Amino acid sequence: MAQQASIFSINLMITLRPLVPEDLPKLEWYGQYTHFRNVYARTYEEHCIGRRLMLVAVLNNFPIGQVFLHLALGHNQEKHKRGYLYALRVMEHLQGLGIGTRLIHYAEQNLIERDFEIAMISAAKTNIRARQLYERLGYHVIGEDEGRWQYMNHRGEVVQMHEPCWILEKNLR
Ligand SMILES: CC(C)(COP(=O)(O)OP(=O)(O)OC[C@H]1O[C@@H](n2cnc3c(N)ncnc32)[C@H](O)[C@@H]1OP(=O)(O)O)[C@@H](O)C(=O)NCCC(=O)NCCS
Repeated sequence: MAQQASIFSINLMITLRPLVPEDLPKLEWYGQYTHFRNVYARTYEEHCIGRRLMLVAVLNNFPIGQVFLHLALGHNQEKHKRGYLYALRVMEHLQGLGIGTRLIHYAEQNLIERDFEIAMISAAKTNIRARQLYERLGYHVIGEDEGRWQYMNHRGEVVQMHEPCWILEKNLR
């Protein structure tokens, strides 16, 4: 005999904060992002010296969302200090609940506190919904990029990426 479904709802307490070393292995999301192990380790070195910032959304001591900030883009001579948001993601089953929006606001707040004037973000041209989200949050397209980059995966193999993208920016002042 089929059992009746039992439905209940719960409140989730989510904390936004900079990454701590204990979060690093958990960023692999049980295998989904194991290939980025070296990338995360290198990013963490730069996080420690203030060149980058790894921000996470934490639920029950587990990072269920993240956004990284590149703080040193070589634009330091420029009048407008720019910070670059990237590697934004939220676990699939928790998408569409406002966590990504809050991560973006939290990243922008971190830039404002460091006296940055402009936030930049890129969206793969195939990722229409991400671009729509950024435009809703005040970003506008200023250009495009071929999106060619490479990384070394956890097996030591170099992986080539090609993801043409839009580049968007937002004035934080
Ligand atoms: C994009 C992403 C970080 C947004 O986080 P989120 O918590 O789902 O976002 P919010 O709930 O605050 O806002 C919802 C909006 O995000 C966008 N969005 C939702 N799911 C998405 C998905 N799977 N992929 C891309 N964008 C998505 C949409 O614009 C959505 O608005 P809509 O429902 O009106 O279409 C998240 O969906 C995600 O991790 N997607 C997969 C990875 C990705 O595309 N990262 C961005 C790289 S440029």
